[in-house]
Amino acid sequence: MKISPNTPDLEELAVRASEFVDAFVAINSLGPVLDFDPENPVPPLGSSYGQGWLSGPPILPLALRTVYQIASAQPKPVIGVGGISSGRDAVKFFQAGASLVQICTAAITKGSEIYGKVSGEMLLWLEERGISSPDSLRGEYVRNLRKYRKDRP
Ligand SMILES: Cc1cc2nc3c(=O)[nH]c(=O)nc-3n(C[C@H](O)[C@H](O)[C@H](O)COP(=O)(O)O)c2cc1C
Repeated sequence: MKISPNTPDLEELAVRASEFVDAFVAINSLGPVLDFDPENPVPPLGSSYGQGWLSGPPILPLALRTVYQIASAQPKPVIGVGGISSGRDAVKFFQAGASLVQICTAAITKGSEIYGKVSGEMLLWLEERGISSPDSLRGEYVRNLRKYRKDRP
């Protein structure tokens, strides 16, 4: 089930839907939005309604928060997507609770080599810290948050 970042009552939806789906994907692009070049103020993507949808790096924090909420609320796997263009970005999604990650916009803007670049950077990040698999990162932020709350009542 692909989740929009605009979903109201996200955790409740995730809990109820988890009975019927194999996994979640979060998030979709965000919008509609509008931007254009002031020197040439025409629809940059040529859409018939003159607007577009936001994706890539600007939506990463929104995607991370959504993944965190869905992964914390229910047990089915979450595929994190939204603004990933480096190994470090991907690591954060695992730490927020993702089981896998997906890349769309960076592949369009930087080419399909981005997949090898991101996985290579991520492997290096794990190796440098003596971590054998991204699975060990999963939910690290959630665990740290619980500890943080306990330490600061
Ligand atoms: C050009 C383009 C086409 C997309 N088409 C679809 C689509 O058909 N179905 C879908 O679920 N998401 C679609 N998306 C959303 C992406 O799968 C992804 O959820 C979103 O762009 C956030 O990830 P990103 O920042 O890595 O692009 C599309 C995104 C872009 C930029």
